[in-house]
Amino acid sequence: MQVRILGTAAGGGFPQWNCNCKYCGAARLSPFAVPRRLHASVALSVRKGSWFIVNATPDIRLQIDNTAELLPGPGVRETPVKGIFLTDAELDHTIGLLMLREGACLQVFASSAILKALSSSFPVASVLSTYANFEWISLDCGHSAEIEEGLLRINAFFVDRKSPRYAGSSPDESGSDWVVGYRFEDTVTGGSLAVMPQLGRFDEGIMAGVADADYILVDGTFFYEDDLHRVGIAGRTAFQMGHLPLSGENGIIDGINRVNARRLLHEKARAKTFLIHINNTNPVLSADSEERKILAESAIEVVDDGLSLSV
Ligand code: MLT
Ligand code: MN
Ligand code: ZN
Repeated sequence: MQVRILGTAAGGGFPQWNCNCKYCGAARLSPFAVPRRLHASVALSVRKGSWFIVNATPDIRLQIDNTAELLPGPGVRETPVKGIFLTDAELDHTIGLLMLREGACLQVFASSAILKALSSSFPVASVLSTYANFEWISLDCGHSAEIEEGLLRINAFFVDRKSPRYAGSSPDESGSDWVVGYRFEDTVTGGSLAVMPQLGRFDEGIMAGVADADYILVDGTFFYEDDLHRVGIAGRTAFQMGHLPLSGENGIIDGINRVNARRLLHEKARAKTFLIHINNTNPVLSADSEERKILAESAIEVVDDGLSLSV
C-alpha cells in the first residue's frame, strides 16, 4: 500500500489565520524551523492510479495539487481520486467535500451518524447532489469491507460518540457512531495502517483496532489538558473538545505504550506511530521542545506534511 500524508494540522491549520500564539508566530517567522501544516488528511492506494483520501479538509484542493500521484489524467477529466473515507463529521474533515463538487462519481464512506449529519444539520449531500453524483456508502463500526477487487480491506472501529458542535446533542443521537477509526490493509502484502485523528479515550476497543497495525496515525491535537491556557488563550480544555491529550495517565502516549508492550509479549515490532491533527497550540510543533523528547521516548514521531510511506 502506498500512503501519502497530505496534512497533519488540527482544525484551523498551522498557522491558524487568527492566531498569534508563539507557535503560529514561529511558523510565520521561520517556516523552515517550524514547518507550516495543512489540515490532517492521508491518501492511500493499493492499485496504480487509484487513490482514496481519509477526510476532506478545507485544504483538499491544495493537497491534491501538491501530490503528483493525485493529479488528474491521463484523460481530460479523469482523476485517480476514487473516494473519501470520513472519520467524523467535523467541519475540518468534511468542508472539502464541497470543493470536490466537480467530481462526477466519488465514493464517500462513513458511519451512519456521519452520513446522517451530512444530510441533515450540515446538508452537504443534498447540496452536492445537484452538482455531482457522489455515492454515499455506509460503513458501520465493527464491520469490515473489501474494495479495489479485494485488494484493500477496511475495518471501521468505534472511537467516540462526540458529535460536532453544529449537530448539537439530541438524545437519540447520543449513542451513535460519530467518531470512527479505520484500519486499512493491503490484502496482498498484509501491510496495514490505522488512522484515528480524533480520540476521546484509549480504551480496549481502540487497542483492538490498532493492535497489529504496522503504522498508526494518531490524534496529536493536544499535549496537555490545558494547551490553550498555556499559550494565553482562554479556550476550552482538551477534554471539553473531545480530544485526549498526549500526556498524562491514560493519555495517548500511555495508550501507545500499552499497545507496544502487548506486542513485545508476542515478539512483534513496535508500531510506527505518527501524530496527525496537531493543534497549532501544541508544544510538539517546536522540534527542540521537551515535549518532543517525551514523544521520542515512546517512538512517536512528528512528521512533516507530504511524507510518503510504503506499507
Ligand atoms: C475537533 O477536532 O474537535 C473539531 O474539528 C473542532 C472544531 O472544529 O471546532
Ligand atoms: Mn478537528
Ligand atoms: Zn496558534
